[in-house]
Amino acid sequence: MAPTDLVDLAGHEQVVFCSDTDTGLHAVIAVHSTALGPALGGTRFHPYPTLDAAVGDVLRLSRAMSYKNALAGLAHGGGKAVIVGDPHTAKTPQLLRAYGRFVESLAGRYVTACDVGTYVPDMDVVAEETRWATGRSPERGGAGDSSVLTALGVFQGMRAAAQHLWGVPSLAGRRVGIAGVGKVGRRLVDHLVEDGAEIVVTDVDPAAVDAVRARHPDVAAAEDADVLARSPLDVFSPNALGGALDDDVVADLRATVVCGGANNQLAHPGVADLLARRGVVYTPDFLVNAGGVIQVSDELHGFDMERAAGRTQAIFDSTLAVLAAAEADGSTPAVAADRLAEERMAGGGATPWLPRSSPDVS
Ligand SMILES: NC(=O)c1ccc[n+]([C@@H]2O[C@H](COP(=O)([O-])OP(=O)(O)OC[C@H]3O[C@@H](n4cnc5c(N)ncnc54)[C@H](O)[C@@H]3O)[C@@H](O)[C@H]2O)c1
Repeated sequence: MAPTDLVDLAGHEQVVFCSDTDTGLHAVIAVHSTALGPALGGTRFHPYPTLDAAVGDVLRLSRAMSYKNALAGLAHGGGKAVIVGDPHTAKTPQLLRAYGRFVESLAGRYVTACDVGTYVPDMDVVAEETRWATGRSPERGGAGDSSVLTALGVFQGMRAAAQHLWGVPSLAGRRVGIAGVGKVGRRLVDHLVEDGAEIVVTDVDPAAVDAVRARHPDVAAAEDADVLARSPLDVFSPNALGGALDDDVVADLRATVVCGGANNQLAHPGVADLLARRGVVYTPDFLVNAGGVIQVSDELHGFDMERAAGRTQAIFDSTLAVLAAAEADGSTPAVAADRLAEERMAGGGATPWLPRSSPDVS
């Protein structure tokens, strides 16, 4: 390993390499921080071409979870795990159980959940070997599909952006473009329809668009995400893959708010400055898409959807706080969100914008 890689590792508390020859498991678990509590973050199952690529990803993702969990007001630090392999061919119950034993060996310093390539039934299997797996199925007392509260949180972030920009916490009468109507995007459409927004959607999967329009015939469809981003909108909402906002898209963007559930929406950090220079209010993805982690963290206390939804509603207040801090500092919301998360991690926990009604609010 090159010395520069060791510098990257220095920001993390613990990185564990896991290998089980019987099942072919190769996994890396990264605990970035436990300053606020046990590290919490999902397990990504992906065919990384090299171990270096897997390590790089898990270091980046676990650090991002520290920031997301801190801003969400959770009593959790950041962690993440990657299992190296093709989930379609390599995933077996035996391998997931072997992985669960490694999670258990960390004795609660790391709590796992679903991520790309792992699903609710997989967490049921992992949980056969460890109590530190969440996002299990409702039949087993789990929180189930986390996109339910992810979508609610994004909607709250969007309402906060509307309040900040237009003085009204509502999208009624606003034109909102949603790129990606999978689990999160289609639920976001439901919230926005109820709020009275005018909606345009797009998805690479025509069946996903058809399903939304069958439920909501007034929803319009755009050809693709590029066309949608360049069309006259009040809000552009990326809910598909990362990197939706690059220099070219931002140069042509006509929306004045960007708020969506997709992770890593900015192609590079400088895009936050480009958005600010164009007068676009950007609600950082890791701030507004925290409803899912709030949902699965609640499971650790005996899942209560009402309590978790209440916590998720607070994304309205945290988004307002971040947008106000950015305005006061003359910084971008991305920088302000990082700063508020770092302050919380350094100070051990105050989140003045959050209610203290949940067992895991510090
Ligand atoms: N599910 C959660 O709880 C959760 C939590 C936090 C963040 N996220 C993030 O939100 C995003 C969506 O997650 P999801 O659970 O809805 O995933 P999903 O796979 O159910 O939906 C994604 C949708 O995007 C579509 N898509 C892919 N590429 C596209 C493109 N170029 N243009 C338009 N549509 C495209 C897919 O066809 C699919 O319908 C992801 O970035 C995910 O990491 C999800």
